[in-house]
Amino acid sequence: MTPSVVEAPVIEARRLTVAFQLPRPFLSRGPGPHVQAVSGVDLSIATGETLALVGESGCGKSTLGRALIRTQPIAGGQILFKGEDITGLSGEALRRARSGFQMIFQDPYASLNPKMRVFDTLAEPLRVHGGGARAEIREKVEEILDAVGLDRTYAARYPHEFSGGQRQRIAIARAVILKPDFIVADEPLSALDVSLQLQVLKLFDALRRRFSLTYLFVSHDLARVFGFADRVAVMYLGKIVEIGGAASIVARPAHPYTQALLDAAPSPDPVVEASREVPRLGGEIPSPIDPPSGCRFHTRCPHAMPVCRSVEPLMQPASGTGHEAACHLLGETAAPVHPPLPATR
Ligand SMILES: Nc1ncnc2c1ncn2[C@@H]1O[C@H](COP(=O)(O)OP(=O)(O)OP(=O)(O)O)[C@@H](O)[C@H]1O
Ligand code: SF4
Ligand SMILES: [Mg+2]
Repeated sequence: MTPSVVEAPVIEARRLTVAFQLPRPFLSRGPGPHVQAVSGVDLSIATGETLALVGESGCGKSTLGRALIRTQPIAGGQILFKGEDITGLSGEALRRARSGFQMIFQDPYASLNPKMRVFDTLAEPLRVHGGGARAEIREKVEEILDAVGLDRTYAARYPHEFSGGQRQRIAIARAVILKPDFIVADEPLSALDVSLQLQVLKLFDALRRRFSLTYLFVSHDLARVFGFADRVAVMYLGKIVEIGGAASIVARPAHPYTQALLDAAPSPDPVVEASREVPRLGGEIPSPIDPPSGCRFHTRCPHAMPVCRSVEPLMQPASGTGHEAACHLLGETAAPVHPPLPATR
């Protein structure tokens, strides 16, 4: 049966722009330069969805994630939370909107208070949001420890008594305990050994199913999130250059930058990796202070044409793929099929 009311996305960005004013260079006059870390981004994430945001270091992933949950001031555009414009909220109204958001960071040690026992770390958000009587709080803390695979007795311990993987589980438990509407997980696997990354990824997935969570999952590694994310958004120098279903993006990348990211992904097989013929993504990411004109990727793109230097390509459907990309090549040829990557889910 077709639902009569279409549910609004949990979070939506419209032409979202974030800029930083940098300090004035030594001995120069006037204001310092601007960095447009996020530049006119459109994005929407549906309830229960995992959207992976991938791209090289410095392309604006964390800034975009923070802006969506209103912890980063924005320079332009709109943010909608369940259809309501929250761009201009401040004070108590902003605090209330933010209570539906959580962020999980790369370094769990830095994000946990070393002087607080696990119990208080997990109970604190409940107390702040009027989480009930003592017995009820204890029950919720124990329930969440079970859910993240930690022993209930660990509640009495301090962060330094745990391994990196266990600490990330505590940070995840704290983020999830209030059953938030939207979680930004910013490179939550980067500080973990490869052997632990898959376990923590599985935990994210299990919690999403159990508590109907919605994630923006930031990663610089497209191969890692494939098989875990529902959709993938590829970011380059402040802009989304391609977005679509994870399997489709990996099988038929339409944007040359997505193709380059996939080609640069290390093979899990060391023999294949040693005999790699495809070069890794060449060149440095240009400075966002003075981004290239036209298509921002033109300085590194193997397919760049004269038009790419002067005309910015708009997002458009990539024929035969079901996703969208911003590239002047689109429409000329269908995206080639890319060799399969191993799934992580
Ligand atoms: N507080 C700030 N002040 C000035 N510039 C900033 C600030 N935060 C971020 N930037 C700049 O904005 C751009 C985007 O940074 P951001 O941290 O969002 O990138 P990222 O994709 O998350 O990178 P990484 O993968 O290294 O975490 C970079 O050029 C960065 O130097
Ligand atoms: S628009 Fe041009 S430079 Fe940009 S990705 Fe496409 S072909 Fe390359
Ligand atoms: Mg970052």
